[in-house]
Amino acid sequence: MTERCQGDTRPRTGPRARTAIVLAAAALLAATSAAFLPGTASAGTTLGASAAEKGRYFGTAVAASRLSDGNYTTILNREFNSVTPENEMKIDATEPQQGRFSYGAAEQIVNHARSRGMSVRGHTLAWHSQQPSWMESMSGSALRSAMLNHVTQVATHFRGQVVAWDVVNEAFEDGTSGARRNSNLQRTGNDWIEAAFRAARAADPNAKLCYNDYNTDNWTHAKTQAVYNMVRDFKARGVPIDCVGFQSHFNNDSPYVSNYRTTLSSFAALGVDVQVTELDIQGAPAATYRSVVEDCLAVARCNGVTVWGIRDSDSWRASQTPLLFNSSGQKKAAYDAVLAALNNGTTPTDPPTTPPTTPPTTPPSGSCTATLQDSTRWGDRFNSQVTVSGASNWTVVVAVTPPQKVSNTWNGTPTWDSSGNVMTMRSNGSGTVFGFTTMANGTWTRPVVRSCTAS
Ligand code: XIL
Repeated sequence: MTERCQGDTRPRTGPRARTAIVLAAAALLAATSAAFLPGTASAGTTLGASAAEKGRYFGTAVAASRLSDGNYTTILNREFNSVTPENEMKIDATEPQQGRFSYGAAEQIVNHARSRGMSVRGHTLAWHSQQPSWMESMSGSALRSAMLNHVTQVATHFRGQVVAWDVVNEAFEDGTSGARRNSNLQRTGNDWIEAAFRAARAADPNAKLCYNDYNTDNWTHAKTQAVYNMVRDFKARGVPIDCVGFQSHFNNDSPYVSNYRTTLSSFAALGVDVQVTELDIQGAPAATYRSVVEDCLAVARCNGVTVWGIRDSDSWRASQTPLLFNSSGQKKAAYDAVLAALNNGTTPTDPPTTPPTTPPTTPPSGSCTATLQDSTRWGDRFNSQVTVSGASNWTVVVAVTPPQKVSNTWNGTPTWDSSGNVMTMRSNGSGTVFGFTTMANGTWTRPVVRSCTAS
């Protein structure tokens, strides 16, 4: 806050100020006209870029074993800006023997994603299912400590690399009871969920911590209400929870319902973010996919949508053909519906925030010039747009101020320095405008362009 005031409100006089105003005007013009030049921006033509322009992500579950499939990675790299390891971060994968951790497959996915500017959702730290056999046979206080140690070790290992963790998965019973699921973890005591959240917060204070479940889409269902009551209680008592994940595996037995938007907005009103975490829909009806995306866009605190796989053949329910790409990797009608919904969507209606008070910064330039402009701003994050002139093959270095973190990028290929604060963005082709989302983490200082080089 102090930094921003000092940096931003200084009165400007003399030639520097005039230059700044002229450059600001020129930049505004450049940015405005760039939007109309053909081929300058891929925003609007891929799921990730279109979602990012609305301040959201569009993600997919990824299986490490498929990263060697060129058809798969071509779609992944083109379309998505968030990934969730489908199985590789689960307890049986990361701690196959007690106290012996194994991160290879998860790291493969994390590195693939982060080197391409995609963010990572971590899934999942505590769950009754996919437990290694040593944990399945444990109970009582030994299990409680083993679970907490697992949460601590895994969240610490990936600290700073995972934007949101599904800390606890599927802890409630199906049906009308509204009760907790009877699992070995539940039998360690009703407070096991909040204990897991506290351990995760201590291990990675900057990650968003989510509770994730299925059959919680229908607002009138007992299970939905039970999870809602738990989250309300956690917020009231200061248990560190930041988000709720809705798996949203829709099928004939568990269909999409029109009160889904009410569900998302009701949870958001408790003061948590909401995320659609594992979307797939039996038969992939375009209209239902469109509704889900529209519902997310209608809720300011809905951060993004993750589909549970790329092609139908990648799905855990392949016979239901529930995804956006067919088994040969071609876009289905549902894909077009999702893209259109993302492009038509309005930006979220967060409370108004203070508009930036300085003219856009103009960096030192080599043989090209990169001009950064503020774009949409929300309660926790903001977008910036950088317009490059003087080169089509450019490399632009941008720095953010810790504890800020870039969570999304579009229209360029980013790499990062070891601190994670300095991003080197390379052009993808002929584009001259790229953008990125910065999670403020309490600091609203504008990112700075350090250099622009042509190659
Ligand atoms: C599924 C995976 O997609 C399968 O590959 C695996 O065999 C079983 O788990 N809810 C969840 C996900 O939270 O982790 C599950 O993923 C699907 C249901």
